Amino acid sequence: RRATQDELKKQVGYKAVDDYVKSGTVIGLGTGSTAAFAVERVGQLLKSGELKDIIAIPTSIRTKEQAESLGIPLATLDTHSDLDVAIDGADEVDPNLNLVKGGGGALFREKIVEMCAKKFIVIVDESKMCGGLGPGFPIPVEIVPFCHEHTMREIAKLPALAGCKPVLRLGDVANNKPDGDKPAVTDNSNYIVDLVFETPIKDAVAAGEQLKNTVGVVDHGLFTGMTTACIIAGSDGISVKEA
Ligand code: A5P
Repeated sequence: RRATQDELKKQVGYKAVDDYVKSGTVIGLGTGSTAAFAVERVGQLLKSGELKDIIAIPTSIRTKEQAESLGIPLATLDTHSDLDVAIDGADEVDPNLNLVKGGGGALFREKIVEMCAKKFIVIVDESKMCGGLGPGFPIPVEIVPFCHEHTMREIAKLPALAGCKPVLRLGDVANNKPDGDKPAVTDNSNYIVDLVFETPIKDAVAAGEQLKNTVGVVDHGLFTGMTTACIIAGSDGISVKEA
């Protein structure tokens, strides 16, 4: 029997915690259906006593609530800004381990937390691996609500993003109800614009820089040069790719 996608997500979520989380450390907890398995595993190991003295920094309100329900001690970057490791899923991973993130709308908190981690471990099933970022999954960008239509037009003009179509995310921020008619609102009270591409982005670093320099943009879902290792679950088993 082939493993289901959920079973693959669980395998990598558990493996990341078993291999990279040590007692007495500060860890970043990602957001999404794959990261939720890593959070579950941290909770299990704390309960069994195999892990001790962990402090966790969650990357969304959803993850915070899950961690709280499992009794995982939490803090924020305000008191703990040196993380030993952060573990999170991704929407797309390119051959250089650059990522698209934010399908679940948590990209800003994910980025600010994961930038502070000595090791950033990405956990995915093989469906997330791609040849180039863009066409397989729209790139989410968090923007402030004020004059958001103007900001969307400015984004469409950026040279490194030529050809993209910005679409305001509606409904639930985690895209569970994409048919809503109101803009989706992030944990930071902002909007998400999903940039739809037909061909891969040529230079993801330049695209990220141009987005970041656009007034009205809070942050974007291109995570370049951040990954330490990517744990990939596929039908042939688990593989680890190091950056
Ligand atoms: C959340 O904003 C995202 O970056 C998620 O980490 C990413 O979408 C992966 O989610 P899944 O594991 O649910 O696919």
